[in-house]
Amino acid sequence: MPKKTVAEIALDNPASVRVFEELGIDYCCGGNVSLEQACAHAGVSFSDAHRKLVSLDAPAGDDRDWSRVGLNELTTHIVERHHAFVRREAPHIELLLAKVVARHGSGNPEYATIEETFRAVSSELMAHMLKEEKVLFPLIASLEAGAAGSVQAPIARMMAEHDDAATLLRQIRSLSHNFVPPDGACPTLRATLASLDGFERDLHLHVHLENNLLFPRALALTEGLRRAS
Ligand SMILES: [Fe+2]
Ligand SMILES: [Fe+2]
Repeated sequence: MPKKTVAEIALDNPASVRVFEELGIDYCCGGNVSLEQACAHAGVSFSDAHRKLVSLDAPAGDDRDWSRVGLNELTTHIVERHHAFVRREAPHIELLLAKVVARHGSGNPEYATIEETFRAVSSELMAHMLKEEKVLFPLIASLEAGAAGSVQAPIARMMAEHDDAATLLRQIRSLSHNFVPPDGACPTLRATLASLDGFERDLHLHVHLENNLLFPRALALTEGLRRAS
């Protein structure tokens, strides 16, 4: 890694721009220098930057069979992994999109539409996750603990909101030509498209765990309680 320029690192691994932004390292216009030089210029420790960049390569590893854990453990996993991801990633993508629109928006009006659509999906998801965390997930926990109650209405609402978010992200994917960067795209645009791609991928997994695993099991729990009473 020390032999590569900062711009090359950003192109090879778009996630690295988060580290560069955090450390104030210029990876775009002034990126044609080694990481060591860039760190010296930004006044940050090379070993610190190197460690952060290497840790990005750690595999995500989500091979656990979530159908075999309790619902409380599953909702904890969803909140800690996927809700935290959305809260961390959405502001980062909004920042990148603002840069893309400022630099390339005049010749590419679709970038402003992507920015506007992403802001809409981001704010919808923030409200959606709060409803899950404050209302639905505690309700599911109480059902699992044996309390009576119904989750049908909130689940139907959450599923409709999942559809809305997926539709907006599909629009972004189509406006972005499947997140494939155009020839000669700058590192910021490449990082933005890769981050949008990653955001959509994570949402797919997130919604899969809720729609296909958590919600049916929570509904079955209500059904079981009704039959037992
Ligand atoms: Fe969620
Ligand atoms: Fe959800």
